[in-house]
This record gives sequence, C-alpha cells and structure tokens, in this order.
Amino acid sequence: PQIPRFQLPFRVPPVLKPQRSDDTTDYYEITIQKSAIEILPGLKTEIWGYNGISPGPTIRQRGGKRSEGGRFSKVRFINQLDKDAQGRPINHVIHLHGMASLPQYDGYAIDYIPPQYFKDYIYPNDRAATLWYHDHTLDLTSRNVYMGLAGMYIVEDDYELNLPLPKGEYDVPLIIQDKRLASDGSLIFNDNNQRSLYGDVILVNGVPWPQMQVANRKYRFRILNASASRNYRLVLSQKPEAQTSGERLIVIGSDGGLLASPVELVAPLQGLQIGMAERYDVVIDFSKYPIGSQLYLRNVASGTVDNDVRTHTIMRFDVVRQEPDDSIIPNQLRPVDSLTDKPIARTRNFRFERNNGQWKINNLTWDSKRVDANPQPGDVEIWELVNPGSGWIHPVHIHLVDLQLLDRNGLPPRPYERGWKDVFLVGEFETVRVIAQFRSRDNRDIKGKFMMHCHNLVHEDHAMMTQFEIGQGGP
Ligand code: C2O
Ligand code: CU
Repeated sequence: PQIPRFQLPFRVPPVLKPQRSDDTTDYYEITIQKSAIEILPGLKTEIWGYNGISPGPTIRQRGGKRSEGGRFSKVRFINQLDKDAQGRPINHVIHLHGMASLPQYDGYAIDYIPPQYFKDYIYPNDRAATLWYHDHTLDLTSRNVYMGLAGMYIVEDDYELNLPLPKGEYDVPLIIQDKRLASDGSLIFNDNNQRSLYGDVILVNGVPWPQMQVANRKYRFRILNASASRNYRLVLSQKPEAQTSGERLIVIGSDGGLLASPVELVAPLQGLQIGMAERYDVVIDFSKYPIGSQLYLRNVASGTVDNDVRTHTIMRFDVVRQEPDDSIIPNQLRPVDSLTDKPIARTRNFRFERNNGQWKINNLTWDSKRVDANPQPGDVEIWELVNPGSGWIHPVHIHLVDLQLLDRNGLPPRPYERGWKDVFLVGEFETVRVIAQFRSRDNRDIKGKFMMHCHNLVHEDHAMMTQFEIGQGGP
C-alpha cells in the first residue's frame, strides 16, 4: 500500500499505572491479547499486543538503591492469546531485557505462560536505565515480537532525576521497528529464508514515519531498536533523502544507563549505530532551528538490504513553537567505574557463524541441556565475541549482566559505546571483547542459568543461542 510519510501524528505509548503499591513494591498487570488497531489510515491490522496495543504500555518505575527510595515491581502477565492460524496454542514468555532478574523471572525460553494462564514477575529495578520487555518464546520470538509483543520499561532513580536533563513530556520514547503490511492492512510475517526479517515500512511507536511537533528546546529521546533484523545508523538532517551538515545528536545513555559524559555526533560524518535490541538515550536541541523548520531522523546504515529509500528515513520533527528551556546537559553525567581495574578470572571465546546452513555459537545450536560457561558469583571475565565471516552482523545479547566494551579488533570502542551495555553489534570479521562481573550492578550474587544469543530474532529462533550458569560446576 502507498503509505504517506511524515503525515501521521507522532504518539507515545501510554504509561502504565500500578494497580496498587505497598512499602516496597508497585504491582502492575498486563494482558496479552489480540486486537485490531489502525496502523494505516482507514484499515485494521490484527496485532498481538500487551493490553492490546503495540508497542505495549510503558512502565516507568522508581528504582535505584533501596536506601534512596528504590522499589521493586511485580508485574502480572496474563496470556489471552489463544491459538495461532494453524490452531496451535500461543504460549508466551516474558523477558525484561536489561533487568538483573532471578532466573525464574528472566523469561527463560521454555518457561511458557500457556493461553489462559498468568505469571507474576518480580523485578529489582536496581539501577536507572532504558529497558524493554518482549516475548522470548523458544523458536517463535521473531513472530511474536513482530506481531507486536514489545514495550518499553524505564527505571529512574534519585541521582538521575536530580540531573537537569529534559524531563516529563520532553523525555520521549522512540521505539523503531520495520514491518511489512499487505494492502488490506494485515501484517506480513515471513522468515522462511531463516536469515532475516525485514520490512519496508518504518514505524516509530507503532506509527509509520510519524511527524512530531516539537518546541524549540532540548528533548531527550530514549531510542530502542525493536526491529527483528534491521540495523540503523541514525543521523539528523534538514532534508529527507539527503544529508545536511552540522546537525547534532548528543548521546547521553546506552543500554545500562547514563554515559560518564555526553558524546556529540555531528552529521554527516558521525551517525549513531543502533543494532537490534540496543538502546541509546539521545538529546536533540531544536533551539538552533527557527520555528517552521523541519528535521528528519534518517537511517544511513551501509549495506541496507533494500534500495527502497523509504527505509532511509525514520520520522520528521516539525519545530512549531517557542518554549523556555531550563534543561542542561551536564558535562559529567554519571560515573562509569571501569571493570578492568578488577582482577580478571578468565577469558572465554564465542564464535557466531553460519555453518552447514545453521546459525551456531561455537559450532553448536541451542540445546536446553547445553551450558557453555560457569562463572562463579562475582567473577570478572572477558568474553571475546567473534564473527569470523562476512555477510552477517550479529547483535549479541548477554542476559543478567551489564558489560563494558573493551575493543573491536583491538581498536577502541566508539565513544558512545563506553558506558554500560548488554548488546554488542559484532560486525563482519570482527572480534569484540567485552568484560562483565557476574552479579547484578547492585552487587547481589545471583545463581542459575541465563541465556546468551544473537538478537537478530531470526538467528535467535534458528538456534543461535546458548546459556551460562553462575555458581555451578567448574568454569
Ligand atoms: Cu531482548 Cu534474550 O533478549
Ligand atoms: Cu545473528
């Protein structure tokens, strides 16, 4: 279908209110259900959504240290998805991506919530960060997330709230996804090539190429790439299909929270690479543009698989009004203590490659009995993530821990990759070394099995996944 660009109004997912709260915990409830929503003007699209919307409602949760008002959350997920088109029950698994959850709440890929059942998940919210919740069902994650099962989860704490960064209506989620829609409006899901799932329509917060009206001031955008297989390189431009010079994105945070200091990216040379499942918090200052200006968020990823220029733009910002701005981007945001100062217990090596027509890690596919690593609680380890071939990049996600990127092929990480992260794009012929301490950021020792996988959801579903177990056996 012909879909207008930059005409549909931008919107943000509603913030979910707790059902109730007590001294320590906020209690939420989310029903997973099918619904028919309007994505294309005048047409109905069946989606599978959290509370029937996609993206799901945003949870904005008070977290951080207990001594400073940090709170737990308990979320009841109720599965009312029933059956798929083939008549098979649609199980569901919830993973809160980026949360240091206990194994029973981490969304282990076979820990199903069957239709008509619910499960309560407890989350510690131990540090401020931009997270997201999504389906994690074994072999079916790409379908389930593509059908709509993804939402943002923001943890805020005292420290961050006390910084003079843009807040409230100026702190805005941007959830980017690509989809393919039939002329009747229905979602086309096809992962038959077992390699990737690309769409030709770019949605931001569920709206195709939206137009956002902004004031001439600073905004904080929490950008999440919730696409199945698409990688983006974001730049700002004054033109939709061409690049103008001097437009700035200021990166202030990554997957695991604020950077130590802001990183300014200046177009056209510097863009923000954001792979599947990565999050970057970015400030855009619209005050340098006169009222009436239009700015485009563009995607200039090289090797973009299609030549459809429409996927090279994401959305438009229209500067429409004057407003005062008392927000400031401090030069020091939040200290990031380097893990390299700690004694390193060991180094491990993981190869991500396609082999005999299968996606493999260290030459093996997923097996629930397979455990590749047994760090002991609190161990600091270096993991070498290796992509020995070409043709594919692999966004590698490691559950439970926040990590730091040491180097890419021996070269320093990009400046905005120097904070806490849980997903690492491993490019062609690239070795990415990362370091982690195997416990939560608030120093809780957690034992049990956690997954690690490629977050290209098609690779993940075709078994590019393994697990590590903390506190068992030898290393
Ligand atoms: Cu975002 Cu194992 O997942
Ligand atoms: Cu991959």
